[in-house]
Amino acid sequence: MIRCVSCGEEYDDNNVIYTCEKCGSVLELVVDIDVSRDIFEGRRDTLWKFKECIPVDETKIVSLDEGGTPFCKCGKLGSELGVNLYVKVEGSNPTGSFKDRGMTVGMTKAIELGVSTVGCASTGNTSASLAAYAARAGLRCIVFLPSGKVALGKLAQAMFHGAEVMSINGNFDEALEAMTALALEKHLYLLNSINPYRLEGQKTIGYEILRDLNWQSPDRIILPVGNAGNISAIWKGVSEFYEAGFVRDIPMMTGIQAEGACPVTNAFKKGAKKVVPVENPETIATAIRIGAPVSDIKALNAIYDSNGYSETVSDEEILNAQKLLARTEGIGVEPASAASIAGLKKLVDEGVIDKGETITCVVTGHLLKDPNVAIDACSKPSEVEADIDVLREILMNK
Ligand code: F0G
Repeated sequence: MIRCVSCGEEYDDNNVIYTCEKCGSVLELVVDIDVSRDIFEGRRDTLWKFKECIPVDETKIVSLDEGGTPFCKCGKLGSELGVNLYVKVEGSNPTGSFKDRGMTVGMTKAIELGVSTVGCASTGNTSASLAAYAARAGLRCIVFLPSGKVALGKLAQAMFHGAEVMSINGNFDEALEAMTALALEKHLYLLNSINPYRLEGQKTIGYEILRDLNWQSPDRIILPVGNAGNISAIWKGVSEFYEAGFVRDIPMMTGIQAEGACPVTNAFKKGAKKVVPVENPETIATAIRIGAPVSDIKALNAIYDSNGYSETVSDEEILNAQKLLARTEGIGVEPASAASIAGLKKLVDEGVIDKGETITCVVTGHLLKDPNVAIDACSKPSEVEADIDVLREILMNK
């Protein structure tokens, strides 16, 4: 059953519906978990190991074996910051971001509904993922991208998997508004995160974190927030497993935004339940360059209900954190993902996070998504002859 998060109006699962027809708010799937957690043991480590908790037809699954991502203990960085740190590496999904979790479920629903065309607006990763899953499902795929603001790796993926890519003169929020209007006119099935089936896939990040910690909850989950779907999804996942009795505690949801694109943090700091959109969002972390997040109500509920927090970080803090994670722990992530690490550092400094807390930072996309930022952050390799004497001399003098 689909339910409105604001007024509680209920809809049948097979309605093609993105917002509540009564009050206009966002929707969610109501899932009742009536299995034991032992059922997941011994299954292949993809998100479909949780199939009893994902409300789609399992005979129609479109999958690239997403989920089951690395959960790396980061001892060096953790002890530097005085916390017990684990990093959930979502860049290890098939197209290099957490979007694949949402897309496998969203695309499965698209097949169930019998649609022929799917579409999204995207800051990059959603389009890369949608293009790949649409190819696998054999559906037509339309993608709107904010012109000039999509990292190279993501653009390459969307184009190469065969999506019809349109570069929109406008920002993400404007591109999404246009795409949504076309979806409401029924030209295509919308697979942005306003589609509640997307979040049913992404909630498995929450499931996996609890499982990865041997059925314990971290004190806190920290992640970047853009359109605000993922924080809402992870909160749904951990809440479902908590309510099913699989864990005894529940984490504080901590959402990090870039200073130039921070409507959710602004709302949190005012205690508001909805955001005031940021008109011209700007940040080097193009994935989260979003001013009017569609899942704002869900995200703020997640933060308030979990006794969580939201903070902003500057572009400089993001780039420093990206390098720090890459060079102290060997984990390469794109700038938006590094916002979680930058946020962790800031909240430890501010005293919001206590020493000794167990923290999971979700790093959402792979380093290679944005090669330009990575290359610009480094000095050029030196050009040297293949002469062993010259090379030895250089090595010895370093
Ligand atoms: N991190 C990365 C790497 C992302 O691509 C996104 C969102 C986020 C974090 C934020 O997640 O929107 O659920 O709060 N990317 C979307 C896209 C908007 O189009 O690829 P969110």
